[in-house]
Amino acid sequence: MLLKVRPFLKWAGNKYQILERIRAVLPPGKRLIEPFAGSGAVFLNTHYSQYLVTDNNGDLIKLYLTLQAEGESFISYCKSFFTESNNSKSCYNNLRKIFNSTTETRLKSALFVYLNRHCYNGLCRYSLQGSFNTPFGKYKKPRFPEDEMRHFYTKAKNAIFLPADFREVMRAAGKGDVVYCDPPYVPLSATASFTTYSSGGFGIDDQVELAELARQLAGRGVPVLISNHATEFTLSAYKGASIELFDVQRYISCDGANRGRVGEVLALFDARLPCD
Ligand SMILES: C[S@@+](CC[C@H](N)C(=O)[O-])C[C@H]1O[C@@H](n2cnc3c(N)ncnc32)[C@H](O)[C@@H]1O
Repeated sequence: MLLKVRPFLKWAGNKYQILERIRAVLPPGKRLIEPFAGSGAVFLNTHYSQYLVTDNNGDLIKLYLTLQAEGESFISYCKSFFTESNNSKSCYNNLRKIFNSTTETRLKSALFVYLNRHCYNGLCRYSLQGSFNTPFGKYKKPRFPEDEMRHFYTKAKNAIFLPADFREVMRAAGKGDVVYCDPPYVPLSATASFTTYSSGGFGIDDQVELAELARQLAGRGVPVLISNHATEFTLSAYKGASIELFDVQRYISCDGANRGRVGEVLALFDARLPCD
């Protein structure tokens, strides 16, 4: 078993837990493209010579770009916000207000790390107006992820980070690329719709378009791996791909309704493989 590097951000739906399964099916290639990067668990734990790491959360990508450009001095700056006096509801609300109003990228990026570790469950939630609105998390002593940020910085030397919609990124893929897509999960039931990663939901039409793009890319010789919940819908949308099914322990719902083991699917679209 290879060593695993933890992402420095807490991220809903992160794939740290199922890295082995993903690594086992990701085909080799020159460059890995991750259009739904999130905390970058897969980027950090694979060994391609180049990476294109993208996400439509602009705050997240600005943070990665700042860390990539500055390294140690930015890590120290982020650490300066992790003080005992900043770990109160009133300080949190004040720093969240500053995060939502500042136009200074360095400050905003450092506050993103602070909010991620001090907010409720590490949830990255925005209002319809685009303001970060997750409440205070009430943790005894939030840990500053210093080593994890260093690992990310080292790995970032071979990466390009871009804020972008998945469609734009996937259309630009070419020979030698491998694409790993980890979109927001499809709901497990009609009532459970967890689409709060950034403002603007990710609907069923987006899921269908993603599967269609994956098919097109595979047809052009670019393999695409998609992960998602295993539901009737995803199994039908990913028809023709090579499918792996397994269960995983997940904690994705505040009310506990979806706690427990849920079925996951890994669908590999690769024209070099025989279709089912
Ligand atoms: C399940 S999370 C990815 C988790 C990631 N694999 C990890 O290990 O942390 C899905 C990500 O998709 C991003 N996202 C949502 N809609 C998107 C879109 N239309 N284009 C690109 N990224 C999008 C969200 O901001 C979120 O970071």
